[in-house]
Amino acid sequence: MRLHVADHPLIAHKLTVLRDERTESPTFRLLVDELVTLLAYEATREVQTEQVEITTPVARTTGTHLAAPRPLVVPILRAGLGMLDGMTRLLPTAEVGFLGMQRDERTLEAITYANRLPEDLSGRQVFVLDPMLATGNTLIAAIEYLLARGARDVTAICLLVAPEGLRTVEQAVGTRGEVKIVTAAVDERLDENAYIVPGLGDAGDRLYGVV
Ligand code: URA
Repeated sequence: MRLHVADHPLIAHKLTVLRDERTESPTFRLLVDELVTLLAYEATREVQTEQVEITTPVARTTGTHLAAPRPLVVPILRAGLGMLDGMTRLLPTAEVGFLGMQRDERTLEAITYANRLPEDLSGRQVFVLDPMLATGNTLIAAIEYLLARGARDVTAICLLVAPEGLRTVEQAVGTRGEVKIVTAAVDERLDENAYIVPGLGDAGDRLYGVV
């Protein structure tokens, strides 16, 4: 597993406003959207491309296109949905699949309650959107599911990660280079309720209001 922490003053600024408990839902949504687009730029560095011949108004030249098969973007419902527009803005030709996962608040294990993904993911590059990597259980379940269906590689885009969750994911996926995590920050720790500290609270609630 590889980790990339996107170190940029704009990301740091937006993340700080996002963390602030006074930031209301409309601004929170906008900031998540902008942050994801910035993280998506980093996360797509290794997207597969091919050379193409084109003609400009002046001359023939060789350029670069995204290669087939199309990348697959998978937001983890519910909070990952708030990251989808920011991602598809940079990757408008990507296909989008959905995984509905939530953690059992007692055991903290991941429960899958919805799945709309292609059965065969052979050769696909997959971008998982999950704002908070806390215990790591949800992400591990998603990564294992995607790799088992043949995904070529999986890049998780997380706004924040906890060191505990990172270690757990690392233990589960080992040194498999095909898994990468791109994040805006690695926070201090998890609290007794598995919330990231200092974190930003419950990402789903702050995006959508408490349900
Ligand atoms: N999920 C969240 O939304 N926030 C956390 O801090 C941890 C998990």
